[in-house]
Amino acid sequence: MIKKIVIATSGASGVNLGLKTLELLPRTIEKHFIMSENSKTVLSKEMHITQHSNDNIGASIASGSFGVDAMIIAPCSMNTLAKIACGISDNLITRCAAVMIKEQKKLILAPREMPFSAIALGNMHKLASLGIIIAPPVMAYYSEQQTLDSMENFIIGKWFDLLGIDNSLYKRWE
Ligand SMILES: Cc1cc2nc3c(=O)[nH]c(=O)nc-3n(C[C@H](O)[C@H](O)[C@H](O)COP(=O)(O)O)c2cc1C
Repeated sequence: MIKKIVIATSGASGVNLGLKTLELLPRTIEKHFIMSENSKTVLSKEMHITQHSNDNIGASIASGSFGVDAMIIAPCSMNTLAKIACGISDNLITRCAAVMIKEQKKLILAPREMPFSAIALGNMHKLASLGIIIAPPVMAYYSEQQTLDSMENFIIGKWFDLLGIDNSLYKRWE
């Protein structure tokens, strides 16, 4: 049962996916939000909205004792992916990810790049072997999505499924 969650956006295209995830999470879950500096650049180019800081490594969520249950990094840049795979904690996002790993909590990464390099795939393989969930924003066509909005709902619904969060964000296969 998820009670506290961290949503983080790093500098890959599709920052709105992280924001939409935040918006769609149930009110009963305590939400914490981090944006990387590069994510802000991408966001300002893609969505024109207000920005927040990733510098505060003294934040509550940077400590395992705060008790975050899960974290989603959506989108996850190849840069942030590589840092997490190497155990680097140089900002609040990578620190929180490291905390999720050490505390054995659920961490979902949504790497966004096309195509993936062998380095990125190697990093994903390493993290997946450690139990981190690699769930890129991959489109599906079986669920009758007609719009970008419904395609995003499908992807976010899959992330919620992985966290055990009830949702009816997409039409399930019957
Ligand atoms: C408009 C824009 C789109 C980008 N899209 C991606 C992307 O889809 N995937 C990716 O790995 N990097 C992408 N980048 C590059 C990252 O922002 C860059 O590697 C940055 O160092 C990532 O830093 P961060 O992981 O701290 O956010 C993009 C950059 C810009 C300006």
